[in-house]
Amino acid sequence: MVGKYLISLIIISAIIVSSVAMVPVLAGGHSKSLIILKKLPVKVPEEYPEGSFFVDKFWKHYDVVGLKDITAKAFLDKGNEKGLILKLSKPYEGEIFYGLIPPNAEVDIPLYRRASKIVNGTALIEIYRFARTSWQGYPAMDLYGWSGMKTYKGTIYYKMVLHIDGKEYIYKGRVSFKRLEDGTFIKIITITEGPIVANITSDDPTAVVIAWETDRPSKGRVVIEGVGSFTDGVISERHEVLIRGLRPNTTYKYYVVAEDPETGETIKSRTYWFKTAPPKGARFKFRWAITNDGRAGEGGGEYDVCGVNAVTNLKIFTHALANNVSFIVYPGDLVMGYTKSVEDYVMQLKSWKHIVEPVNHYIPVYVGMGNHEFLVNAWDDGSFFGILLDKWPYDVESSEAIFAKEFVNPTNGPASEDGEYYDPDPTTINFPPYKETVYAFQYGNILIVVVNTDYWGAIETQVSKYGGNIMGYIMDKQLKWLKEILDKAEEDPTIDWVFVAGHTPAFPAGGHVVDSMWYKGNNTFRPYVYSFEKDTLTPLSKGIIERRNEFWEILSNHSKVLAYFSGHEHNYYRILITDKVPVGVPEVDDVDGDGVLEKYSPNPKFKYPVWQINVGTAGAGYYSRRVDEYVPWRDYVEYFTVIPGYALIEVNGKHVVLKYYSVNGELLDVVDLTSVRGITPPKPKPKVITVTETVTRTETLTQTVTTTSIVTTTKELRITETKTVTKEKTLTTTSTVTYTTTHTSVFTTTTTEKVKITAWDITAVVGVLAFVIGALIAYFIARKPAAKAETK
Ligand SMILES: [Fe+2]
Repeated sequence: MVGKYLISLIIISAIIVSSVAMVPVLAGGHSKSLIILKKLPVKVPEEYPEGSFFVDKFWKHYDVVGLKDITAKAFLDKGNEKGLILKLSKPYEGEIFYGLIPPNAEVDIPLYRRASKIVNGTALIEIYRFARTSWQGYPAMDLYGWSGMKTYKGTIYYKMVLHIDGKEYIYKGRVSFKRLEDGTFIKIITITEGPIVANITSDDPTAVVIAWETDRPSKGRVVIEGVGSFTDGVISERHEVLIRGLRPNTTYKYYVVAEDPETGETIKSRTYWFKTAPPKGARFKFRWAITNDGRAGEGGGEYDVCGVNAVTNLKIFTHALANNVSFIVYPGDLVMGYTKSVEDYVMQLKSWKHIVEPVNHYIPVYVGMGNHEFLVNAWDDGSFFGILLDKWPYDVESSEAIFAKEFVNPTNGPASEDGEYYDPDPTTINFPPYKETVYAFQYGNILIVVVNTDYWGAIETQVSKYGGNIMGYIMDKQLKWLKEILDKAEEDPTIDWVFVAGHTPAFPAGGHVVDSMWYKGNNTFRPYVYSFEKDTLTPLSKGIIERRNEFWEILSNHSKVLAYFSGHEHNYYRILITDKVPVGVPEVDDVDGDGVLEKYSPNPKFKYPVWQINVGTAGAGYYSRRVDEYVPWRDYVEYFTVIPGYALIEVNGKHVVLKYYSVNGELLDVVDLTSVRGITPPKPKPKVITVTETVTRTETLTQTVTTTSIVTTTKELRITETKTVTKEKTLTTTSTVTYTTTHTSVFTTTTTEKVKITAWDITAVVGVLAFVIGALIAYFIARKPAAKAETK
C-alpha cells in the first residue's frame, strides 16, 4: 500500500517537474478540450480531435442518467404517506415497476406488483399498497404482515424503464424505507449491492470475503450464525470483510447489518448461506461452472439491462446454482463497455453485479476481463472506431483499475507489465495494473488460473502509431507469471488438474477468426510500446501467433493442464489440441517471410493434449461457425452450437466430466475430459444396502390318522411347522442382488385331548372299513369287463 502511494507520489512529482505546463489540445471545431499531461504512456494523436464515431454516436451508452440515479440515492429522503419519491437527475419519462421478494424465496428475484409513471424524472412508489387492507378486507399484497402495524421498515425492489430519444434504458435497484408513527414514509440506509461472497478457495479454506455497498457511508457488520459478528471497522459505502477461522467445507448462514452512523438507523440484509472450501488436495466430488459474454444481446427489454443481458445471465446463474456448483468463473465481456465515461463503465459493471447477485449471495463468481471491458480515451481520425486507447492514468482510471475496484477476486497475479524489458521508463507507470484481473486459486484438487487476454486495450491496426496492446496478446510478464504458477502446480501433490480461463480463444472457429489469438494467420500483429522520452514506438519481438504458440506450449508442457476455457466467440465448441492438429507455426509456415502464414503445420512442441473449450454463451449475439481455410483446425472441432448456456465441470478426484447445459436447462454435450489422459471413470464404491426382511410363515401340517394308528394310539398328532425366512440383499450399482436366506423350521407337537375308544367305536369302525373295502372290491370287479368292452 505504502509502496503504491510512494510510486504515485513520485509520478505526480515527476509530472509536475517535467511538465512546464499542462498542454491543452483544443480540438478543431470541438468545444471539448483534452488536457494532456506530459510523460504519456502512449503517443497521443494530437492532430485529431477527441471523440470517436463508434463510441460517441454508434454505440449505446447507459449514463444518460447518473450513477446516483440507479441506486437508492435516486430517492428523496422524505416521502409521503403513500410511499417514496423517485427524483432522477434529468427530467426523463418512463415507468417504474416495484415489488417485494417473498420471504421464503431462496433467490432474490423480486415479484413486481405495482407500476408508476415517471414523469419529468419523478415518480411515486406506492409502498402503502403492500400493506393496506384492500380486497374484501384482506391484504392483497402484504407479504410481511405490515397491514395493521403502525410502523414498519423494509426494502422494495424496482425496475426503471426510461424512454429517451427512441431508445429504452432499463435500470434495476432497491431502496429501504421506514413508515413513521405519523404515517409518512422515509428512505433509510439501503444495502444497494450485495452482500456477496467471494474468494472461497482452498488457499485458505477457513476464509470468506463478504462484500456489500450502501447508498451512503455506513458502518457495517457480517453476522455468521453460530460463529459471531465481523466488521471491517470503517465508515464507507463499500465494505469488504475478510473472515478467517471458519471450518473448511462447512455451510454457514450469514447476513449483513448496515448502520447509518448519523441516525443510528440500521437495515439487515436477508439471510443467505455459503460453504467454505475443502482443504487443499481434498478429492471431494464437486462441480463448478463457466461461461462468458453475457453483455447485452438482441431482443430488447431485459436482454439489455444497462449493458447486460439479464434474461440469459439470470437463467444460467440460477440453473448453475440449482445444479449445485461451488463457484462460477466468468472471464470477460460482462458488459457492452467501449465507453469514454468512467460513470458509464461503472454503471454497466454494477448492472452485471446486480443481475447475478441472487446467486452471488451464495457462491463466488470469479470474473476476468474481455475486450468489452474497455474504458477508453478516444480520438476521431475519421474512421469508424476512431483511435481508442485504454484510459489513463492507468492506476486509477484504466479499464483494469476500475474493474478491480468493482470486483473481489484473488490478488496473487503479477503487478503490471512495468519492469519488463520493454518498459520505457522505470520511474513511471506505463502499463495498467493486473490486480484482480489475473490470478489463480485452488479449490480442492484443482487449480483455476484466470488470465487477461485483453490487457492494455487498443485497436490492433492503430497500435503501431500510438502504442498499446492488441486483443488476444498475452504480454511477457503475464506469460512468465503463468509459467511460474504452472511450474509450481506441476510440483504440488495437492493439485491434480489445472484449468486456465481467458477471454479470447487460441483457436477460434467462428466470427473471431479475424482476431482472437489468430488474426487469420497474420503474425505481424503485436503490441507496441511508446517511449515518451525517445518519442519512439517499439514493437514487441514476438508476433501474435508466435505468442499464441508460446502460450499453448506452456499449457501443453504442463501435464496437469487439462483445458483452456475461452469465450469472445459467442458459441460453444470444444477442440482437443494435440501435436497433430494443424495450428500454424510461423517459423515454418511463413514461407515468403511477410509475417502471414501460407500453410498451417502442427506444432510438435504441444506435448500433452489440452482441450480448448469455448463458452462465449451467456447471451451476446451469436457467431456461427466458420469452416474455411482460415480455420485450419476446423476438422478437429468436436461439437459446435450457438445455443446460449454454460459449461458445468464435474470433478471427481482425477476424473473430470464436462456438461454443456443450454440456457433452458437442456443437456447438450457431455464429454469425459480426462479420458484423453488415460483416466478411467472411478469405479463407484459398491453401495452396500443391506435389506433384512423377516418373513414368518406358520404352516400347519395335517396328518391323516390311519385306523391302525387310531387303534394303537390314543393321541392325535398335529405337527405345526413355523418357518422364519431372513433375506439379505446386497445391492451394487450394477443391480446385482444377492440374497442370503436362512431357513429355520420349528415343529411343534400339539397333544389333543384323549379320545375314548369304546368297543362300539371299534366295531363300528371295523364294520365301516370292512364295508368300504368290500364295496371297492365289488366296484373294481364289476368295472373290469366294461373297460375291456370299451377298448374294442
Ligand atoms: Fe469478446
